[in-house]
Amino acid sequence: MSESRTTSEYGRRQPPVLLLDKVVKEYDGDPPLRILHDIDLTVARGELVAVIGPSGSGKSTLLSLIGTLDRPTSGRIQLEGHDLTALSDRQIAALRARSIGFVFQQFFLLPGLTTLENVATGLLYTGETVGRRHERAVRALREVGLAHRLGHRPDQLSGGEKQRVAIARALVGRPGLLLADEPTGALDTASGRGVVELLLQLNAQGTTVVVITHDRDLAASFPRRIGLQDGRVEFDTGNETPGAGPGPAPSPAPSLAPAPGHGPGPGPGPGPGHSAWRRPAREGTA
Ligand SMILES: Nc1ncnc2c1ncn2[C@@H]1O[C@H](COP(=O)(O)OP(=O)(O)O)[C@@H](O)[C@H]1O
Ligand SMILES: [Mg+2]
Repeated sequence: MSESRTTSEYGRRQPPVLLLDKVVKEYDGDPPLRILHDIDLTVARGELVAVIGPSGSGKSTLLSLIGTLDRPTSGRIQLEGHDLTALSDRQIAALRARSIGFVFQQFFLLPGLTTLENVATGLLYTGETVGRRHERAVRALREVGLAHRLGHRPDQLSGGEKQRVAIARALVGRPGLLLADEPTGALDTASGRGVVELLLQLNAQGTTVVVITHDRDLAASFPRRIGLQDGRVEFDTGNETPGAGPGPAPSPAPSLAPAPGHGPGPGPGPGPGHSAWRRPAREGTA
């Protein structure tokens, strides 16, 4: 990872990695079931954010919207400066493949594949050769401390190691945003601590991370905490205590986007991921 500039430097020059404006999510029903109510949220590049809340408060629903796996009922979401409401499903899939890495409680490793092969699957969309994908996978595995487990299959790994493989897979394509939903939920305390330390370290190297958890102790390690309750933002320490704690001070929340067609949208704008729009299958070697 070559990025070493601070959040505030980035915050001034770049759009936020993530911006939610009055996001609502409802499920069909009579009346419709409202799961998320008017969520406003800005995450600047380089931030490390924990979203906390009790079971059923809407955390995973929020993560699936942020991760572009689902669309909001109303409101707007911007990812890396791109307004998702303006994009087709195909454009969104391309943006997701380049910009987001996912980590889930259940790891979702492919059982028949080695550690190396599992991580390399994170690069399938790039169209790179298998040799190049494996090279990059080895590098990612070194970063998570698993260079000595390349040939192991998931059933030969501990829970903590499996989650580190999943994190390497999420990171291998160098996404702008790492999303983790209860990444320590299936781990014992010590392995969970190891995963949290790894996330802190990856963030210190420049990765923007949003972690969802119901564990307040775990969340306490994170510089910014956002509390969800019944589908609403109950608190956001990023808005209350700028500069507090060891993390970078959050940049001031910018107002939502220029009107459509203005910012670095799907057109040939200067957004960090704009080349993805027409060439989702190939990316020059980085
Ligand atoms: N597809 C769905 N249809 C209807 N209700 C859903 C659906 N998915 C989730 N919910 C409801 O949304 C609420 C929030 O769920 P979720 O986001 O998974 O919460 P959390 O991750 O905080 O535990 C829960 O009450 C859940 O039952
Ligand atoms: Mg959940």
